Amino acid sequence: MTDHATWIPTDIDVERASPARVYDYLLGGSWNFDIDRMMAQAAIDRMPWVRELARHNRQFLTRAVRFCADAGIRQFLDLGSGMPTAKSVHEIARETDPRARVVYVEQEPVAVAHGGLILAGVDGVEMIGADMRDVDVVLNHPTTAALLDFDEPIAVLMASSLHYVLDAEEAVRTVERYMEAVVPGSYFVLSHISDSGADGADEVNRLVELSKTTSSAGVARSREWIEGLLGGLEVAEPGVVYTSQWRPDTRLQLVRELPAHSSLLAAVARKP
Ligand SMILES: C[S@@+](CC[C@H](N)C(=O)[O-])C[C@H]1O[C@@H](n2cnc3c(N)ncnc32)[C@H](O)[C@@H]1O
Repeated sequence: MTDHATWIPTDIDVERASPARVYDYLLGGSWNFDIDRMMAQAAIDRMPWVRELARHNRQFLTRAVRFCADAGIRQFLDLGSGMPTAKSVHEIARETDPRARVVYVEQEPVAVAHGGLILAGVDGVEMIGADMRDVDVVLNHPTTAALLDFDEPIAVLMASSLHYVLDAEEAVRTVERYMEAVVPGSYFVLSHISDSGADGADEVNRLVELSKTTSSAGVARSREWIEGLLGGLEVAEPGVVYTSQWRPDTRLQLVRELPAHSSLLAAVARKP
Protein backbone atom coordinates (compact mmCIF):
# COMPACT_ATOMS: atom_id res chain seq x y z
CA MET A 1 0.00 0.00 0.00
CA THR A 2 1.07 3.59 -0.55
CA ASP A 3 2.24 5.21 2.66
CA HIS A 4 -0.92 6.98 3.74
CA ALA A 5 -0.20 6.60 7.43
CA THR A 6 -0.12 10.36 8.01
CA TRP A 7 -3.73 10.88 7.04
CA ILE A 8 -5.51 7.61 7.84
CA PRO A 9 -8.06 8.40 10.57
CA THR A 10 -7.25 6.45 13.73
CA ASP A 11 -10.85 5.31 14.23
CA ILE A 12 -11.35 3.45 10.96
CA ASP A 13 -11.81 -0.30 10.80
CA VAL A 14 -9.07 -1.62 8.51
CA GLU A 15 -10.20 -5.20 9.15
CA ARG A 16 -13.40 -4.73 7.15
CA ALA A 17 -13.51 -3.89 3.47
CA SER A 18 -15.24 -0.65 2.51
CA PRO A 19 -17.11 -0.04 -0.77
CA ALA A 20 -15.38 3.32 -1.29
CA ARG A 21 -11.92 1.76 -1.09
CA VAL A 22 -12.82 -1.39 -3.08
CA TYR A 23 -14.23 0.87 -5.79
CA ASP A 24 -11.08 3.00 -5.69
CA TYR A 25 -8.98 -0.14 -6.16
CA LEU A 26 -11.13 -1.38 -9.06
CA LEU A 27 -10.62 1.98 -10.75
CA GLY A 28 -6.85 1.69 -10.34
CA GLY A 29 -6.49 3.93 -7.27
CA SER A 30 -4.16 3.37 -4.33
CA TRP A 31 -6.31 4.56 -1.41
CA ASN A 32 -7.15 1.08 -0.21
CA PHE A 33 -5.97 -1.63 2.17
CA ASP A 34 -5.19 -5.36 1.80
CA ILE A 35 -8.68 -6.26 2.97
CA ASP A 36 -10.17 -4.08 0.22
CA ARG A 37 -7.99 -5.68 -2.46
CA MET A 38 -8.98 -9.14 -1.22
CA MET A 39 -12.62 -8.09 -1.43
CA ALA A 40 -12.06 -6.74 -4.95
CA GLN A 41 -10.63 -10.12 -5.97
CA ALA A 42 -13.60 -11.90 -4.41
CA ALA A 43 -15.87 -9.57 -6.40
CA ILE A 44 -14.00 -10.35 -9.63
CA ASP A 45 -14.42 -14.07 -8.87
CA ARG A 46 -18.19 -13.58 -8.63
CA MET A 47 -18.50 -11.10 -11.48
CA PRO A 48 -15.58 -11.22 -13.92
CA TRP A 49 -16.55 -7.84 -15.45
CA VAL A 50 -16.69 -5.95 -12.15
CA ARG A 51 -13.81 -3.64 -13.19
CA GLU A 52 -15.80 -2.74 -16.30
CA LEU A 53 -18.83 -2.12 -14.11
CA ALA A 54 -16.81 0.42 -12.07
CA ARG A 55 -15.25 2.00 -15.16
CA HIS A 56 -18.59 2.28 -17.01
CA ASN A 57 -20.18 3.83 -13.95
CA ARG A 58 -17.44 6.42 -13.59
CA GLN A 59 -17.60 7.24 -17.30
CA PHE A 60 -21.38 7.60 -17.09
CA LEU A 61 -20.95 10.01 -14.18
CA THR A 62 -18.47 12.05 -16.23
CA ARG A 63 -20.86 12.29 -19.20
CA ALA A 64 -23.84 13.06 -16.96
CA VAL A 65 -22.01 15.90 -15.16
CA ARG A 66 -20.97 17.37 -18.55
CA PHE A 67 -24.57 17.07 -19.72
CA CYS A 68 -25.81 18.97 -16.64
CA ALA A 69 -23.08 21.59 -17.02
CA ASP A 70 -24.02 22.04 -20.70
CA ALA A 71 -27.63 22.52 -19.54
CA GLY A 72 -26.45 25.43 -17.37
CA ILE A 73 -26.05 23.69 -13.99
CA ARG A 74 -23.31 25.24 -11.86
CA GLN A 75 -23.98 23.54 -8.51
CA PHE A 76 -23.62 19.86 -7.70
CA LEU A 77 -24.54 17.85 -4.61
CA ASP A 78 -22.72 14.53 -4.96
CA LEU A 79 -24.24 12.01 -2.53
CA GLY A 80 -22.06 8.95 -1.85
CA SER A 81 -19.24 10.54 -3.80
CA GLY A 82 -16.48 8.07 -2.95
CA MET A 83 -12.86 9.20 -3.24
CA PRO A 84 -12.50 12.43 -5.20
CA THR A 85 -9.69 10.97 -7.29
CA ALA A 86 -9.02 10.70 -11.02
CA LYS A 87 -11.42 13.08 -12.70
CA SER A 88 -13.79 14.12 -10.02
CA VAL A 89 -17.08 15.94 -10.35
CA HIS A 90 -15.68 19.42 -9.69
CA GLU A 91 -12.93 18.97 -12.28
CA ILE A 92 -15.45 17.86 -14.91
CA ALA A 93 -17.95 20.63 -14.08
CA ARG A 94 -15.20 23.24 -14.07
CA GLU A 95 -14.22 22.37 -17.63
CA THR A 96 -17.49 24.10 -18.55
CA ASP A 97 -17.40 26.82 -15.89
CA PRO A 98 -14.49 27.23 -13.46
CA ARG A 99 -16.89 28.77 -10.94
CA ALA A 100 -18.95 25.57 -10.57
CA ARG A 101 -19.47 24.61 -6.92
CA VAL A 102 -19.59 21.07 -5.54
CA VAL A 103 -20.50 19.57 -2.18
CA TYR A 104 -19.37 15.97 -1.83
CA VAL A 105 -21.17 13.84 0.76
CA GLU A 106 -19.57 10.60 1.86
CA GLN A 107 -19.88 8.38 4.93
CA GLU A 108 -16.61 6.46 4.56
CA PRO A 109 -13.95 8.04 6.85
CA VAL A 110 -11.00 7.28 4.57
CA ALA A 111 -12.71 8.87 1.59
CA VAL A 112 -13.56 11.92 3.71
CA ALA A 113 -10.00 12.21 5.01
CA HIS A 114 -8.64 11.84 1.50
CA GLY A 115 -11.17 14.34 0.20
CA GLY A 116 -10.14 16.88 2.81
CA LEU A 117 -6.51 16.63 1.68
CA ILE A 118 -7.24 16.81 -2.04
CA LEU A 119 -9.72 19.64 -1.74
CA ALA A 120 -7.73 21.79 0.69
CA GLY A 121 -7.30 25.15 -0.96
CA VAL A 122 -9.82 24.45 -3.73
CA ASP A 123 -12.39 27.24 -3.45
CA GLY A 124 -16.05 26.35 -3.89
CA VAL A 125 -15.60 22.60 -3.36
CA GLU A 126 -15.95 20.76 -0.04
CA MET A 127 -16.57 17.29 1.29
CA ILE A 128 -18.95 16.57 4.16
CA GLY A 129 -18.65 13.39 6.22
CA ALA A 130 -22.32 12.38 6.54
CA ASP A 131 -24.85 9.70 5.82
CA MET A 132 -26.86 10.85 2.81
CA ARG A 133 -30.01 9.37 4.41
CA ASP A 134 -29.74 12.13 7.03
CA VAL A 135 -31.21 14.58 4.58
CA ASP A 136 -31.67 17.37 7.14
CA VAL A 137 -28.06 17.03 8.32
CA VAL A 138 -26.80 17.30 4.72
CA LEU A 139 -29.10 20.13 3.66
CA ASN A 140 -28.61 22.18 6.86
CA HIS A 141 -24.87 21.57 7.06
CA PRO A 142 -22.96 24.89 7.21
CA THR A 143 -20.86 23.78 4.21
CA THR A 144 -23.95 23.08 2.11
CA ALA A 145 -25.44 26.42 3.11
CA ALA A 146 -22.19 28.23 2.31
CA LEU A 147 -21.64 26.65 -1.11
CA LEU A 148 -25.04 25.88 -2.60
CA ASP A 149 -27.75 28.41 -3.42
CA PHE A 150 -31.07 26.56 -3.22
CA ASP A 151 -32.78 29.35 -5.19
CA GLU A 152 -30.76 28.24 -8.23
CA PRO A 153 -30.83 24.80 -9.95
CA ILE A 154 -28.66 22.07 -8.48
CA ALA A 155 -27.72 18.65 -9.85
CA VAL A 156 -28.30 15.98 -7.21
CA LEU A 157 -25.99 13.05 -7.95
CA MET A 158 -26.51 9.50 -6.67
CA ALA A 159 -24.08 7.50 -8.75
CA SER A 160 -23.82 3.94 -7.55
CA SER A 161 -24.75 4.95 -4.00
CA LEU A 162 -28.52 4.57 -3.58
CA HIS A 163 -28.27 0.77 -3.70
CA TYR A 164 -26.58 0.95 -0.29
CA VAL A 165 -29.84 2.28 1.17
CA LEU A 166 -31.37 -1.11 1.86
CA ASP A 167 -34.84 -0.07 2.90
CA ALA A 168 -36.74 0.54 -0.34
CA GLU A 169 -39.14 3.08 1.17
CA GLU A 170 -36.31 4.98 2.79
CA ALA A 171 -34.46 5.03 -0.53
CA VAL A 172 -37.49 6.47 -2.34
CA ARG A 173 -38.10 9.02 0.40
CA THR A 174 -34.44 10.07 0.42
CA VAL A 175 -34.56 10.83 -3.31
CA GLU A 176 -37.88 12.65 -2.93
CA ARG A 177 -36.61 14.83 -0.10
CA TYR A 178 -33.53 15.98 -2.00
CA MET A 179 -35.59 16.66 -5.12
CA GLU A 180 -38.17 18.58 -3.06
CA ALA A 181 -35.36 20.76 -1.72
CA VAL A 182 -34.18 21.90 -5.16
CA VAL A 183 -35.89 24.32 -7.56
CA PRO A 184 -37.40 23.46 -10.98
CA GLY A 185 -34.68 23.16 -13.59
CA SER A 186 -32.57 21.06 -11.21
CA TYR A 187 -31.35 17.61 -12.24
CA PHE A 188 -31.20 14.13 -10.73
CA VAL A 189 -28.38 11.84 -11.85
CA LEU A 190 -28.76 8.18 -10.92
CA SER A 191 -27.00 4.88 -11.43
CA HIS A 192 -28.21 1.82 -9.56
CA ILE A 193 -27.31 -1.86 -9.68
CA SER A 194 -30.07 -3.99 -11.17
CA ASP A 195 -30.78 -7.67 -11.50
CA SER A 196 -33.38 -7.09 -14.23
CA GLY A 197 -31.02 -7.89 -17.09
CA ALA A 198 -31.45 -11.41 -18.47
CA ASP A 199 -27.72 -11.41 -18.97
CA GLY A 200 -25.65 -11.09 -15.81
CA ALA A 201 -28.39 -11.25 -13.15
CA ASP A 202 -26.77 -14.24 -11.41
CA GLU A 203 -23.48 -12.42 -11.15
CA VAL A 204 -25.23 -9.31 -9.81
CA ASN A 205 -26.88 -11.38 -7.09
CA ARG A 206 -23.58 -13.03 -6.16
CA LEU A 207 -22.00 -9.58 -5.87
CA VAL A 208 -24.83 -8.36 -3.66
CA GLU A 209 -24.36 -11.40 -1.37
CA LEU A 210 -20.66 -10.59 -1.13
CA SER A 211 -21.41 -6.96 -0.25
CA LYS A 212 -23.10 -8.18 2.93
CA THR A 213 -19.65 -8.99 4.31
CA THR A 214 -18.45 -5.38 3.84
CA SER A 215 -19.19 -2.33 5.97
CA SER A 216 -22.12 -1.54 3.63
CA ALA A 217 -24.37 -4.19 2.15
CA GLY A 218 -26.00 -3.35 -1.16
CA VAL A 219 -29.25 -4.34 -2.83
CA ALA A 220 -30.07 -4.91 -6.51
CA ARG A 221 -33.39 -3.48 -7.69
CA SER A 222 -35.62 -4.02 -10.67
CA ARG A 223 -35.83 -1.78 -13.71
CA GLU A 224 -39.44 -0.97 -12.73
CA TRP A 225 -38.42 0.18 -9.26
CA ILE A 226 -35.63 2.34 -10.67
CA GLU A 227 -37.94 3.87 -13.27
CA GLY A 228 -40.47 4.55 -10.51
CA LEU A 229 -37.95 6.84 -8.77
CA LEU A 230 -38.11 9.17 -11.76
CA GLY A 231 -41.87 9.72 -11.68
CA GLY A 232 -42.67 13.43 -11.97
CA LEU A 233 -39.28 14.20 -13.50
CA GLU A 234 -38.44 14.72 -17.20
CA VAL A 235 -36.13 11.86 -18.07
CA ALA A 236 -33.50 12.89 -20.62
CA GLU A 237 -32.91 10.76 -23.69
CA PRO A 238 -32.10 7.88 -24.00
CA GLY A 239 -34.08 7.14 -20.82
CA VAL A 240 -33.16 4.44 -18.32
CA VAL A 241 -30.36 2.39 -19.86
CA TYR A 242 -27.18 0.65 -18.76
CA THR A 243 -24.41 3.08 -17.83
CA SER A 244 -22.39 2.22 -20.94
CA GLN A 245 -25.42 3.02 -23.12
CA TRP A 246 -26.11 6.48 -21.69
CA ARG A 247 -24.96 8.87 -24.42
CA PRO A 248 -21.71 6.96 -25.10
CA ASP A 249 -18.86 8.97 -26.55
CA THR A 250 -18.33 6.40 -29.27
CA ARG A 251 -20.50 3.72 -30.86
CA LEU A 252 -17.50 1.43 -30.57
CA GLN A 253 -18.11 1.09 -26.85
CA LEU A 254 -21.50 -0.46 -27.56
CA VAL A 255 -20.47 -2.97 -30.17
CA ARG A 256 -17.41 -4.10 -28.27
CA GLU A 257 -19.08 -4.91 -24.98
CA LEU A 258 -22.30 -6.41 -23.71
CA PRO A 259 -24.26 -3.42 -22.32
CA ALA A 260 -25.73 -5.54 -19.54
CA HIS A 261 -22.22 -6.03 -18.24
CA SER A 262 -22.38 -2.50 -16.95
CA SER A 263 -24.89 -4.05 -14.51
CA LEU A 264 -26.00 -0.59 -13.38
CA LEU A 265 -29.00 1.16 -14.86
CA ALA A 266 -28.57 4.89 -15.30
CA ALA A 267 -30.63 7.98 -15.98
CA VAL A 268 -30.52 11.75 -15.90
CA ALA A 269 -33.77 13.58 -15.20
CA ARG A 270 -34.83 17.24 -14.87
CA LYS A 271 -37.23 18.62 -12.30
CA PRO A 272 -39.94 20.42 -14.34
C1 LIG B 1 -19.47 2.58 -5.54
S1 LIG B 1 -19.06 4.07 -4.74
C2 LIG B 1 -19.53 5.27 -5.96
C3 LIG B 1 -18.71 6.54 -5.90
C4 LIG B 1 -19.13 7.63 -6.90
N1 LIG B 1 -20.45 8.13 -6.61
C5 LIG B 1 -19.08 7.14 -8.33
O1 LIG B 1 -20.14 6.80 -8.86
O2 LIG B 1 -18.01 7.07 -8.91
C6 LIG B 1 -20.39 4.22 -3.57
C7 LIG B 1 -20.09 5.21 -2.45
O3 LIG B 1 -21.28 5.51 -1.72
C8 LIG B 1 -20.92 5.65 -0.36
N2 LIG B 1 -22.13 5.49 0.45
C9 LIG B 1 -22.89 4.38 0.56
N3 LIG B 1 -23.92 4.63 1.38
C10 LIG B 1 -23.84 5.92 1.76
C11 LIG B 1 -24.62 6.75 2.62
N4 LIG B 1 -25.72 6.29 3.21
N5 LIG B 1 -24.23 8.03 2.80
C12 LIG B 1 -23.11 8.51 2.21
N6 LIG B 1 -22.32 7.75 1.40
C13 LIG B 1 -22.68 6.48 1.18
C14 LIG B 1 -19.90 4.56 -0.16
O4 LIG B 1 -19.11 4.79 1.00
C15 LIG B 1 -19.11 4.66 -1.45
O5 LIG B 1 -18.04 5.56 -1.35
